Amino acid sequence: MTSIEAAVERWDGRMTIVERDPGSGTWMVVAVHSTALGPAAGGLRMAVYPSPGDAVTDAHRLSAAMTRKFAVCGVPMGGGKAVLAVPSLPTGAARVALLHRFGDLLASLGGLFGCATDMNTTSDDMDVIAERTEFVYSRTTGHGGSGSTAPATAQGVHHAVRATLAHLTGSPDPAGRRVAVQGVGAVGGKLAVHLAADGAEVVVADADRARAEAVATAVKGRAVDPDRIVEEPCDVLAPCGPGGVIGPSTIPRLRCRAVVGAANNQLASEEDAERLRAAGILWAPDYVVNSGGVLYGAGLEMLGWTEDVLAERLAGIGDTLLEIYERADAAGVSTLEVAEQLWRERLAAAGERGRAGTG
Ligand code: NAI
Repeated sequence: MTSIEAAVERWDGRMTIVERDPGSGTWMVVAVHSTALGPAAGGLRMAVYPSPGDAVTDAHRLSAAMTRKFAVCGVPMGGGKAVLAVPSLPTGAARVALLHRFGDLLASLGGLFGCATDMNTTSDDMDVIAERTEFVYSRTTGHGGSGSTAPATAQGVHHAVRATLAHLTGSPDPAGRRVAVQGVGAVGGKLAVHLAADGAEVVVADADRARAEAVATAVKGRAVDPDRIVEEPCDVLAPCGPGGVIGPSTIPRLRCRAVVGAANNQLASEEDAERLRAAGILWAPDYVVNSGGVLYGAGLEMLGWTEDVLAERLAGIGDTLLEIYERADAAGVSTLEVAEQLWRERLAAAGERGRAGTG
């Protein structure tokens, strides 16, 4: 267990706001990592944590990841994240009351941070928060929001797979290539459909076996045991389920040429980027690959993009990856190292004066 003081002391971000909601016993946390590029935005996660300090630590980690994601995909927003550390996931009137209290907290911050959906929060929840503040995104389309980000995220991953194939083989065309998709939920399921439409051979796995079978049938592919998907011989392994799936125990089992997927925090630790490089496997940094979700939400709701601009920016995910691959090859370093350089360069170019990991 971590104390709140220890979590705040070791963080390199700008600001941590903690408020307790006595009625529900919830710790409400807003972590603003950086405002160098613009006002901070990020998801609102609701979860049970061992201690309030662990909730703050999680908010810090997720907030820093948002700084990277916005910077690397060229969106003028700062990294932020909010956490509601609940004793148990609330429903009904208790949930509405908590979301209203959180909405009041956001309103009091006056736009420093705006929230969107994340684990255990939905667009319906965002509609409830919007009853108290304007600083909330990913509401339902019926309430003026843009709805689910998953289709755009899947399109971004599709561009990422094509760019990776171009780098590896000289052609972006997935036709005749084999792609293994781990987790075929909202994003992975759509990715499987895009790749099958390109003529790729698609192998899928999901903890929900019925879901895997349904997607396999739809894409005329094959479903395999979720414990075995990482061992599937393929050109690209696409992790689109849980995080932490690439680590010392899985890397020796991989039989792919590249790992390109939507899952957040795919690597068990940063050292795994170098382990993958040493194994001759190309890794597409996850926060670049899955940035389609923020391009969609921020672009359409905050930045006034048209669908055409959004489509161009989603395609740009592939261009960013190609730049990362070329720089990594030239310098003989991991793709993670180059992605980290890239977001820092973009923050520096924007005249970052504060901390946010740049100093
Ligand atoms: P989802 O919840 O719709 O789908 C995840 C799927 O993974 C589910 O079908 C689940 O049964 C399956 N799964 C869970 N554990 C598994 C395991 N051990 N092996 C195989 N399958 C397993 O989630 P969604 O929205 O498709 O997101 C997928 C990943 O992409 C997550 O890591 C998420 O954080 C990340 N992501 C999603 C974005 C979005 O716009 N939805 C944006 C950026 C990242």
